[in-house]
Amino acid sequence: MTRPVTMITGASAGIGAELARVFASHGHELVLIARREHALTALADEIAATGKPRPLVLAMDLGAGGNAGRIGEELAKHDLAVQFVVNNAGFGLLGRADSLARDEQLAMIDLNVRVLTELSLAFIPSVTRERGGILNVASVAGFLPGPGMAVYYASKAFVVSFTEALYQELKSRGVRVTVLCPGPVPTEFQARAGVPGQLGPSILERDARFVAMAGYRGLMAGRRMVVPGWPNLLATLLPRFLPRGWAVRIMDRVQARRFGP
Ligand SMILES: NC(=O)c1ccc[n+]([C@@H]2O[C@H](COP(=O)([O-])OP(=O)(O)OC[C@H]3O[C@@H](n4cnc5c(N)ncnc54)[C@H](OP(=O)(O)O)[C@@H]3O)[C@@H](O)[C@H]2O)c1
Repeated sequence: MTRPVTMITGASAGIGAELARVFASHGHELVLIARREHALTALADEIAATGKPRPLVLAMDLGAGGNAGRIGEELAKHDLAVQFVVNNAGFGLLGRADSLARDEQLAMIDLNVRVLTELSLAFIPSVTRERGGILNVASVAGFLPGPGMAVYYASKAFVVSFTEALYQELKSRGVRVTVLCPGPVPTEFQARAGVPGQLGPSILERDARFVAMAGYRGLMAGRRMVVPGWPNLLATLLPRFLPRGWAVRIMDRVQARRFGP
């Protein structure tokens, strides 16, 4: 007999750690994945201390490839079957595409796009059997081109498009698929991306707990897309009404203020 679990990538910090707390508080047994084992273990201890089942910790670099096979083997050892997949691990980089390191930008595509796609597809049979779902973390950045963070914005546009299509393909099988599109959230993301100060205007900012709760509720309700906070929802709708050229120029000016023309 296997036990159903929720697998969360990027659970060692930020939005992923809050998603873990929210899923655990709603009675889901967890598998926590990221590179930093000590942070995952501390979170597993914290969750176990509340009387919930102790999460399984898998410390791994998802950028190394072969993830679905490695995760599948670990789950089989512990008699666990994936019910919910939460593809949250990701990072961004601020700067002109031609001035940022090419390898790092390709690694961003690997994590934000390839790994998310791999884990979404690999566990469809399991989430179907377990009557669960997939929560993919995109961003409001997925709704328009982002000069100054060109590859990051493009990677999140992929996540939005892929996840909405998957929602449609899997809904007749009873599988929930949701794309979560946060605006700015104060986490380690900003330091990793090299963003000085805030990522965006305060009116758009929401904390990781708020975003995680919105994502959880949306997934459980079978919603295709969740954009936490009404100003962010507005921000995702605006590009529909603006000429595309204007939107690109506005984004260029916003980002250029951070690192110069
Ligand atoms: N913060 C924002 O403003 C914001 C806004 C919109 C969308 N998002 C999206 O939300 C998601 C979570 O971001 P966050 O803000 O919570 O960022 P964060 O605090 O930097 O957390 C990122 C997580 O990803 C993990 N990770 C990074 N590289 C990894 C790798 N190679 N293998 C395994 N795990 C890896 C990190 O763990 P380790 O370092 O331990 O590996 C960490 O747990 C991302 O997809 C991000 O694009 C963030």
